[in-house]
Amino acid sequence: MLCSKYFSVSFLLFSLSLHAVNCADPLYHVCFSEENYTADSPYGTNLNGLLNLLSSKVPSEGFGLNSTGQGQAQANGLALCRGDVSETDCETCVIDAGKDLGDRCPYKKGAIIWYDNCLLKYSNIDFFGEIDNENKFYMLNVEDVENPTSFNPEVKDLLSRLSNEAYANPKFYATGDLNLDSSSKLYGLAQCTRDLSGLDCKNCLDTAISELPNCCDGKRGGRVVGGSCNVRYELYPFVDA
Ligand SMILES: *[C@@H]1O[C@H](CO)[C@@H](O)[C@H](O)[C@H]1NC(C)=O
Ligand SMILES: *[C@@H]1O[C@H](CO)[C@@H](O)[C@H](O)[C@H]1NC(C)=O
Repeated sequence: MLCSKYFSVSFLLFSLSLHAVNCADPLYHVCFSEENYTADSPYGTNLNGLLNLLSSKVPSEGFGLNSTGQGQAQANGLALCRGDVSETDCETCVIDAGKDLGDRCPYKKGAIIWYDNCLLKYSNIDFFGEIDNENKFYMLNVEDVENPTSFNPEVKDLLSRLSNEAYANPKFYATGDLNLDSSSKLYGLAQCTRDLSGLDCKNCLDTAISELPNCCDGKRGGRVVGGSCNVRYELYPFVDA
């Protein structure tokens, strides 16, 4: 796999967390809730029920959200698979995500985890339909391109085109490419969670694109990944046709 060249950068922690990423491992996670629950509490039961619902409902559509329980004990969650991921791989990813997040954020009421193939987020607070501006990270290929002055605008052009396509698509997903010269091609992806409105999807993507200079200026690959949308570009194809 080609992921080993990547390093994730968290601006939440204002630190470089330099770890090589193995494709089967999560890209990143955040335990964003201060609140704890206990295993046999109503929230614990509702969260388990929610994770079961998501792992059975999400794979067929590649996206799903649901809430279980009521009031203080309500668990709200969503999962999104990358637009090209098969139903089987989507199911595997969502199931693993639930287990992994429970291990990494034990008894936290709110948490989010990202993989190449999917993201999973849950919280006691109903977060549906709102752009997640809190949980976000960058990834970059540490290698530089030869000519950043011409390369950076090409990245922006491709991803802006994909942002326009994604928000108009029922799956809030678009991929595409652009010829840089006779021998190289740029590949891109834009995707939003489907609880957003079309306009919020576009806003989320355009914000992500505007943040690319923070991580990825002149880099051979980059991603801005959030709880509601993500963009990615590479000099090699990275999605299944
Ligand atoms: C939740 O648990 C952590 C770790 O045990 C503790 O530091 C924190 O104070 C707890 N939070 C609340 C709101 O009780
Ligand atoms: C949540 O799951 C229940 C039970 O499967 C289903 O009836 C309901 O439509 C789901 N809600 C949403 C918002 O998908």
